Amino acid sequence: MTSKDREYVNQVLDSGILAGAFAPHVKALQEEFADYLGIKYCIAVNSGTAALHMAVAAAGIGPGDEVITSAFSFLASATAPMHQGAIPVFVDIDPRTYNMDPAKIEEKISDNTRAIIAVHIQGLPADMDEIRAIAEKYDLILIEDAAQAAGAEYKGKKAGTLGDIAAFSLNQTKNFQAGEGGLFVTDDKEYWLRADMVRMFGEQVREKERRSYVAHTLGWNYRMPELTAAIARAQLERLDEINENARRNARILNAVLEELDGIEPPYCPPDRTHIYHKYRARLRPEALGIKEKDTVFRDKVLLALQAEGVPAVLWQTFPLPANPLFQKKEGFGKGFPWSFPGARDIRYDPSEYPETVKLLNSSIVIGSERYPIFAQSAETVEAWGEAIRKVFRNLDEVLEAVELPEEAAFGLGEITSLR
Ligand SMILES: Cc1ncc(COP(=O)(O)O)c(C=O)c1O
Repeated sequence: MTSKDREYVNQVLDSGILAGAFAPHVKALQEEFADYLGIKYCIAVNSGTAALHMAVAAAGIGPGDEVITSAFSFLASATAPMHQGAIPVFVDIDPRTYNMDPAKIEEKISDNTRAIIAVHIQGLPADMDEIRAIAEKYDLILIEDAAQAAGAEYKGKKAGTLGDIAAFSLNQTKNFQAGEGGLFVTDDKEYWLRADMVRMFGEQVREKERRSYVAHTLGWNYRMPELTAAIARAQLERLDEINENARRNARILNAVLEELDGIEPPYCPPDRTHIYHKYRARLRPEALGIKEKDTVFRDKVLLALQAEGVPAVLWQTFPLPANPLFQKKEGFGKGFPWSFPGARDIRYDPSEYPETVKLLNSSIVIGSERYPIFAQSAETVEAWGEAIRKVFRNLDEVLEAVELPEEAAFGLGEITSLR
């Protein structure tokens, strides 16, 4: 944290104003983030999940509706529609960008489909032109899950301004963070007003007007605390610098990985910028003639890198639809939302997402939550690069020497074990 964070936090402590929809730092953050994106409306809330739920609610999505999202994301991309009683439908990824493959969206659209949640996974904007064209063709609302992509750009426009509504997360792992928190953004006044009611118990809260305590719709308490807003404001001032640092560090690692066989850097198409919320390297054991199973090779490489001091980790090891939540389809109990009358019978067979399965079985993330790539110095990342070289130049010995623990050490690595 910086002296700016302390300065703003002290302002809050001195003011004694710790909360409120119109508390000074909450208000300022909303204005500053809207300016940063070049968008009209922003609502600060207490998590990215809350912001995403508000987006779905503002879009008027409800029971029986279907919402399309990526098979490779964090759970909230799929559960936000469920908070409104809607049903998530998953699309496999493009193996190069790791984002939802636009070519596979149309086959998932039904009469019940109401929206697409495009996720900008790990900080790389999705193929928004193609996705928007499909949304327009089928009259679907386009929501961006920009939780991991604050400051990333697509054809010169910032993530969060590429659809109808967007949600950001400010949790501690993000390039733009405030411990916890979220931001809802839109250019549409109607969506903004509806989302604002969802933030506060369904009330229409107006500045300088007495609070009425009248619920006009179903709402929650998603208000952002003032201390969170103070930290977020200080962090927003540094966001471009943090993202630039992420890109510089990614370039260092890219150069190392490009020299080596059996490991590939993440791809960033030339028409967009990546903020490397996570740097996911793809493993190619087949290019080396290695016969080990993908997950065995992955886990051995991971242990070897960790032993060399590289904070390499796994993040998500199976497609979202393989989660027991979707396999059991119990949801809220009594099978809701899937049991809603008129809902289609949606199947969640993990084999329908081969590219997601393949990616997650054969890739690792370099940089952990404690030591994310975007927060490191060039020297540190160069040292990681040296260690990666060492492991990949001695792979035969590494594979021979590393013993995997008997138990699946890294969680549910094999999707079949979930059934
Ligand atoms: C892609 C994605 N969507 C949504 C969320 C939810 O954000 P939060 O953890 O702030 O609720 C996250 C958080 O990790 C995320 O990575």
